[in-house]
Amino acid sequence: MTQTFYDRVAGELTEIDAQGLTKPERIIASRQGPVIQVAGRDVLNFCANNYLGLAGDERVTQAGIAAQEKWGAGTASVRFICGTLEIHKELEAAIAGYLGFEDAILFAAAFDANGGLFEPLLGENDAIVSDSLNHASIIDGVRLCKAKRYRFANSDMDELESRLKEARAAGARDIIIATDGAFSMDGYIAKLDEIRVLADKYDALIMVDDCHATGFLGPQGKGSFSHHGVEVDFVTGTFGKALGGAMGGFICAKKSVVELLKQRARPYLFSNALAPAVCGSSLEAIRIAQGSEGDALRTRLSANAHRYRNAMADAGFTLLDGEHPIIPVMLGDAKLAQDFAARALELGVYVIGFSFPVVPRGQARIRTQMSAAHSFEQIDRTVAAFTQAGRELGVI
Ligand SMILES: Cc1ncc(COP(=O)(O)O)c(C=O)c1O
Repeated sequence: MTQTFYDRVAGELTEIDAQGLTKPERIIASRQGPVIQVAGRDVLNFCANNYLGLAGDERVTQAGIAAQEKWGAGTASVRFICGTLEIHKELEAAIAGYLGFEDAILFAAAFDANGGLFEPLLGENDAIVSDSLNHASIIDGVRLCKAKRYRFANSDMDELESRLKEARAAGARDIIIATDGAFSMDGYIAKLDEIRVLADKYDALIMVDDCHATGFLGPQGKGSFSHHGVEVDFVTGTFGKALGGAMGGFICAKKSVVELLKQRARPYLFSNALAPAVCGSSLEAIRIAQGSEGDALRTRLSANAHRYRNAMADAGFTLLDGEHPIIPVMLGDAKLAQDFAARALELGVYVIGFSFPVVPRGQARIRTQMSAAHSFEQIDRTVAAFTQAGRELGVI
């Protein structure tokens, strides 16, 4: 009887593979960084969300070790039972202070932050207006909530306005506009200045997922909202990318909102407290990011992105426009993207082919990501390797 189930699983895997959509795990034998060890040799790494180069940083690593020494491996408890340590409160205060909010709440991951935000705050009389390119975790969070759902095409402000009008006409009590601050597969930055204007016009709140912005976009790296010089109501984010690269998520908001989330958000109430080592590393990463060293790292990151973007465009590759350190090299075909990544690895550069369902069908790509830790020499070497792979595979 159960054999039919296992046959179906095997059949689905075969089908995924036949379409060139299998996502293999390549095993890394070193710390995260611009150079990593894969299959016994050093290769350049251009696909980590290691924007400030702090993942693998010795100070961030040691801060994690020190926190683990002091607080142990963890609390064996969710926060409200017996799982709130001083270091959790310290991290909540640090991230809220850094981003300029009254308070913050921690989650095991930004996926959980997005999953836990909407359901406690909105009911069936409310509305969420969501960008079509929003991260899967926002989509799941919206699904878990009873509010009426509206969708607008990516960064299409006319559509956003139409949806807001519809929501108001339908009598919505409260409306939240939900958007990624920077869209993870494309590197597009949300038009938060224009969204702010529409939110004010239709009396809506704004939620921003700044996983790909916190630490490096805007003054002091506060994020996409500070990049546009506007205020928003809720920011969700991660410690798993620019802020040290460990893991863990957060929501920054007004105190009353955080208080309510601590009473009602299910991933907070029913999941273990963040590990002390993660808190220690994240605190050290925030300290570095918000100071003058952070400014230097952001300048370096921006210079690296410019250099790579210009050189790749000159080499004839099709890139998506933008100013973000996510720079997608568009290839279209899923199998081609896999072949390109495999050839790049042979040539000493670790990148990954992104295909459906992570990006739409027919829009497979190599998503390259710059880090402040990359040198110009490493960028130039990568462009040379891509140029060779691109010529061999008929891409350029
Ligand atoms: C836009 C966005 N939101 C949320 C997440 C989830 O972050 P975390 O790894 O902390 O769960 C990611 C990570 O891929 C992301 O890119």
